[in-house]
Amino acid sequence: MSLKESALAVRENAHAPYSNFKVGAAIRSASGVIYAGCNVENIAYPEGTCAEAGAIAAMVAAGETRLTEVYVVAGSPAPVPPCGGCRQKLSEFGAPDVVLTMATTGGVEQTTTIGELLPGAFGAEHMQDD
Ligand code: THU
Repeated sequence: MSLKESALAVRENAHAPYSNFKVGAAIRSASGVIYAGCNVENIAYPEGTCAEAGAIAAMVAAGETRLTEVYVVAGSPAPVPPCGGCRQKLSEFGAPDVVLTMATTGGVEQTTTIGELLPGAFGAEHMQDD
């Protein structure tokens, strides 16, 4: 299954009864394996999680910590960019030049990179203490 097919398939399992906005995300890890995640909402709204977070959690749970490609798909008319929190989560595991495709179920695709999504990201190099 391709990254796109994985994202479309997992989107079907999204738990989004409050927003009715289903999102699917698929990431390819450094080993080439694809991990997928969907948004999982909660009646206590802030407890909901994004599709990207689910895909990252699946990758880390499988023992991998580097991602090389990302695909995010939603049912909106225009491609949906990852939220701010997900941009930070993606930058934890992916280099700035990692390509991220934002897509719609209707077939519109827009590509960007993790670095473009989060310029000046807070990274490990900023945690140096004297
Ligand atoms: N959402 C994602 O899962 N990923 C994104 O990139 C944007 C937003 C989800 C969170 C929430 O369940 C719903 O979309 C509406 O914000």
